[in-house]
Amino acid sequence: MKFFIDSGDLGEIHEAQAMGAIDGVTTNPSLLSKGGKPTKQAIAEICELVDGPISAEVLATDTQGILDEGRELAKIHPNVVVKVPLIVDGLKAVQVFTKEKIKTNVTLCFSPTQALLAAKAGATYISPFIGRLDDLSGEGMELIEQITTIYSNYGFATEVLVASIRSPLHVTQAALIGADVATIPFKVITQLAKHPLTDIGLAKFLEDAKKIPKS
Ligand code: G3P
Repeated sequence: MKFFIDSGDLGEIHEAQAMGAIDGVTTNPSLLSKGGKPTKQAIAEICELVDGPISAEVLATDTQGILDEGRELAKIHPNVVVKVPLIVDGLKAVQVFTKEKIKTNVTLCFSPTQALLAAKAGATYISPFIGRLDDLSGEGMELIEQITTIYSNYGFATEVLVASIRSPLHVTQAALIGADVATIPFKVITQLAKHPLTDIGLAKFLEDAKKIPKS
């Protein structure tokens, strides 16, 4: 499973990359609003840092606006993936981007039928938001199971990019299902490495090591 970091923060991206954990980056307007930089500049800087797919989201909600904005974003760097909301106008734009060989990440997916439409439009990635479904007392991971089954049934090439991840358990579950990608916030990436028994075991080893004669 590929790991993307869900962040617009260069410090976080750099740190996660140093762990060898990062295959790409996803951003959204909420994340970029925290950085105080214009979107194109922020995306260009991330592209300099990470050599992998970098999702940059359009703000337009009409097909022509999405196409204009997406083409501009795609010009920033060959690794840019245009992030398009899962609305009818977005799906129309994705079909055109697919013909133009511009990669797309269809975002804000909350149902299997939305995911089917995105795949039929030729999306490179589909982003189901599991944490937000859990927030509404749903079962976000069920959606990942449904989409991976449907895509596998029909051989769709669209990759399932699990988004809105809130915990290491989400990452484990997504990997067990066989999702293609998990986009993970920095805090959760650091949690993935941690286990209290590792810390306790290390402390004991270091304490015992003091009893070993030096020569
Ligand atoms: O990639 C989408 C993700 O950023 C949404 O996460 O935590 O805002 O639901 P969240």
